[in-house]
Amino acid sequence: MSAEESGEEPYFIGRKEDIIQAKRVTKFLNGRDILVVHHDGKFYAMDEHCYHAGSSLENGDIEEFNNKLCIVCPKHKYKITLAEGEGIYKATNPKEKNSAARWFSKGIKQRVHTVMEVNGDIFVKISEVCRFIESDYYQTEEFRQEKSACVSDESQS
Ligand code: FES
Repeated sequence: MSAEESGEEPYFIGRKEDIIQAKRVTKFLNGRDILVVHHDGKFYAMDEHCYHAGSSLENGDIEEFNNKLCIVCPKHKYKITLAEGEGIYKATNPKEKNSAARWFSKGIKQRVHTVMEVNGDIFVKISEVCRFIESDYYQTEEFRQEKSACVSDESQS
């Protein structure tokens, strides 16, 4: 297995200027669907499929919530911080009478990856965090088979 196949080396994504123009790029790298986003002068990379139910985050709006820049999943509007992959939500505490809604964290739910710039080229280094992160499920062959079965069911109906 080459260093690139092992996920140890960063993967070339594209020319910086091209990605800035495109704003979002998806790539299949080392068995993962990755989304690279350029927003307000910064690059971010994360698993493309949302940790909640696997929808693509490619067209998710980017908004700030609780001072954190988030991508909002188009499917059910879950909010995921771009930098950390943290799931956040706003709610009231049912145990507190007349409490105002406030932000809560679900912890890290979406695997994020490291973006590097070298001489005007953008590279992504795949996260090597060993523990299971919920978006990992949507990078498995099991999910890909489920997804393609759904697509073929829909096309037959
Ligand atoms: S699939 Fe993303 S919020 Fe449900």
